Amino acid sequence: MNEIEQYIRVIQDFPKEGVLFKDIATLLQNPKAMQLCKKQLIDLVGDQKIDKVIGIESRGFFFGTLLAAHFNAGFIPVRKPGKLPYKTISELYDLEYGTDAVEIHIDAIKKGERVLIHDDVLATGGTANAVCKLVERLGGEIVQCNFIIQLDFLNGKEKLKNYTIASALQY
Ligand code: PRP
Ligand code: MG
Repeated sequence: MNEIEQYIRVIQDFPKEGVLFKDIATLLQNPKAMQLCKKQLIDLVGDQKIDKVIGIESRGFFFGTLLAAHFNAGFIPVRKPGKLPYKTISELYDLEYGTDAVEIHIDAIKKGERVLIHDDVLATGGTANAVCKLVERLGGEIVQCNFIIQLDFLNGKEKLKNYTIASALQY
């Protein structure tokens, strides 16, 4: 068993019935668990050069900044619509009912920069795939999409098949 698994709280029927929600709040509140998780995420990347780390709002922010500091890279927030103040580009993605969008500042990534995308959970892959498209539209090179938790039964891997994905935990 991966040591960090014990620090993730599982909540039944959140945010709706039938969903087993993986709550990383219990991991974040424990400094030892934070360090362990941080190290595992860093190890997934190895010694690859990274220019920018993207953290996906909101739960991708926590470790996104730690990864950026470790790799001596810039941190880039990708946010939900209407949150970023400067000029943005956006990508729509499908939800179970309807669509949502993610946005990035147009000057966040320069052509050819090597980008690490981080989020807490890979579920259907809709969010991360939309973020990959944003990076590509700005001319960035996606080194890896990196997650704490990958929910294999939701097939996000398939949606991200053109990219390298890596996760600390898989369910
Ligand atoms: C959750 C999770 C991932 C995304 C994964 O975020 O943190 O970002 O869903 O789902 P997908 O692979 O099916 O796209 P959520 O949108 O709930 O927002 P939050 O991070 O602000 O809690
Ligand atoms: Mg999220």
